[in-house]
Amino acid sequence: MSTVIRGGTVVTADLSYQADVLIEGGRIAAIGPGLVGDEVLDATGCLIMPGGIDPHTHLEMPFMGTYSADDFESGTRAALAGGTTMVVDFALPSPGQGLLDALQMWDNKSGRAHCDYSYHMAVTWWGPQVFDEMAAVVDRGITSFKHFMAYKGALMVNDDELFASFRRVGDLGGIAMVHAENGDVVAELSARLLAEGNTGPEAHAYSRPPAVEGEATNRAIMVADMAGVPLYVVHVSCEDSHEAIRRARARGARVWGEPLIQHLTLDESEYFNADWDHAARRVMSPPFRNKAHQDSLWAGLQSGSLSVVATDHCAFTTAQKRTGLGDFTKIPNGTGGLEDRMPMLWTHGVGTGRLTPNEFVAATSTNVAKILGMYPRKGAVLVGSDADLVVWDPAAEKTITVGAQQSAIDYNVFEGKTVKGLPRFTLTRGVVAVTEGVVDSREGHGEFVARKPQGSVSRALSAWKELSAPRPVQRFGIPASGV
Ligand code: URP
Ligand code: ZN
Ligand code: ZN
Ligand code: ZN
Repeated sequence: MSTVIRGGTVVTADLSYQADVLIEGGRIAAIGPGLVGDEVLDATGCLIMPGGIDPHTHLEMPFMGTYSADDFESGTRAALAGGTTMVVDFALPSPGQGLLDALQMWDNKSGRAHCDYSYHMAVTWWGPQVFDEMAAVVDRGITSFKHFMAYKGALMVNDDELFASFRRVGDLGGIAMVHAENGDVVAELSARLLAEGNTGPEAHAYSRPPAVEGEATNRAIMVADMAGVPLYVVHVSCEDSHEAIRRARARGARVWGEPLIQHLTLDESEYFNADWDHAARRVMSPPFRNKAHQDSLWAGLQSGSLSVVATDHCAFTTAQKRTGLGDFTKIPNGTGGLEDRMPMLWTHGVGTGRLTPNEFVAATSTNVAKILGMYPRKGAVLVGSDADLVVWDPAAEKTITVGAQQSAIDYNVFEGKTVKGLPRFTLTRGVVAVTEGVVDSREGHGEFVARKPQGSVSRALSAWKELSAPRPVQRFGIPASGV
């Protein structure tokens, strides 16, 4: 059984051209004019792009005393509905728990996925067991390790642990990732705000100003530099953090920044809404920022100093959010976005002229696949690549509303926003999962994608590290002591 996508324009990270795409056995078998197949998908007026890859999700994650409400079933169904064909979720050991133990927990959950997935591993504590198990994690094809510089008393690691872990990641040929916020300062500011009677969701934003994120980003870049490891900074929300990344990249550091679709399109005024639920539903870390910070993030995508766009999809229901009534520090941190990332970025990026269609593909898919070590199996329209594709109709419109979404939660942070640019078809390894808004995907279809360590950036960094390593000076005729 073969499928041909006919009559569209193939759009990749570097090219746009007219061609049909033939799919056999879940992979792209041919690209060119006049292809024939058993099943034909009409792509007239559409763009044939690599399906989106969301590099940052938290599905059914234990966090702040509860579990995020979208699991691998509803989360990946939402992803496909919006043209995303792969997610990379964070396996999160609780402090003291082994990494392989946590992996087993994630394997138990991910069997329900509708689309392919991979994991990052979080390093939430440090010790010989973590050090040892990191090698086994890499052997399983998980090559990126996330560190929280915030959430003091829970997931946060200190600088000595950060440095030790970064060195280990570097030696294993992996990528270090950070949630960059100064957790000590956030904890102090939060306690003071509460004591002063600032208990509402707006205080969440007061407790995590941009400088707190900028400082931690600079610190993580320095530590990565000392450890000789490539660094990926998740959810870059502000100019302070973007500036640190831009400066590091300009001097040659291997650092990537990931803004979220939420920070690109929603701002801090959401927290001043008189409706407590409205504000609390938008509580996430880092918080939404003002327009100047948003402009900085868009400029970063345009100039290349920021590399990918994610969602950090970590959805909590209104009832879960209400745990924090009377104390903003107890509002579970996280928002949704999996279904909306691609249409929102297309509308506000390509639709406004801030991004080209090719830059859109790079930011939503190809750059993710390259940075995380799974290109060109994923993120490409090439013969031999997995047929994870989205047939994108740039003329299709809808208004985002909770009633029509796949996500399990009872609201949508983009409620009421009109988007122009939607999938006509979404294909996961050659199987049509979405047709013009109608989802017909299969629970359990998704497969784990193992990734490769020692990518070209890691090898280049190792070569440089070796060449520039401190060496003792060879001296002849050492002076006699005590003269
Ligand atoms: O608020 C957020 N971002 N929740 C998810 C966990 C994290 O920090 O990424
Ligand atoms: Zn985070
Ligand atoms: Zn509202
Ligand atoms: Zn996250």
